[in-house]
Amino acid sequence: MNLQKSVEDNGYRQSMGQLLMLYTQVDRLIMEVCAQRLTDAPDEDAELSLAKQVGDESRHVTIQRQWMRQFGAAPTPLITPEQEQMIREYFHALPWIDFLADLYVCVEALGSEAVERIVPLADPGTRESLRIPLADELDHVAFGISRLRKELARLPKAERQTFLERLPARIESLADAFHGFGVPVRSLFEAVGADYDRLCELLEDRQKELIAELTFGKQPPQPTHATAVVSA
Ligand SMILES: [Fe+2]
Ligand SMILES: [Fe+2]
Repeated sequence: MNLQKSVEDNGYRQSMGQLLMLYTQVDRLIMEVCAQRLTDAPDEDAELSLAKQVGDESRHVTIQRQWMRQFGAAPTPLITPEQEQMIREYFHALPWIDFLADLYVCVEALGSEAVERIVPLADPGTRESLRIPLADELDHVAFGISRLRKELARLPKAERQTFLERLPARIESLADAFHGFGVPVRSLFEAVGADYDRLCELLEDRQKELIAELTFGKQPPQPTHATAVVSA
């Protein structure tokens, strides 16, 4: 990662504004797909966690919108309404185990990892706006991973192994679909001072760590609560 860019820098302001917009759009979509899933959650534990998450994501959207207004950038949405609809339909159609893998491993865990990497490069106001959302994401990831472990434990060993072996390809195809939306992720990250190739390597490492957490026989991840891990 490079040196922090100045908030006075117009390129930084525009790009950070767009990244904030992207994060807000994704949070809103997560709120919607979790609300949708609430009606056919497999049990009460899942219902309660999904309901909490709907509330959390709604709060994140409010915080981010408020901050974007103060920040002064007027970003336009990066994901089109048609793409948003495709995303909703995609998640709605997924069986529970695939929903857990795609939403929690890919979107929540890897997505918030990317956001975390931006925090040290961000101006103080943006950093503060990300503090509560990123702390909540830890809870969402902990829920998703523990439920996914539970689902995997129910599968016969061979099926479980196949599922885990296919997980990297699954994540890659979701990432490809996202890149296919035409969001200029690399240039946005670079404009706020991030080393994009290094970021991709860190995301690969995080992916391996997550798959290890899901591999049967290893210790389950300890539940994390909304503690402030994001350095202020
Ligand atoms: Fe969120
Ligand atoms: Fe979340």
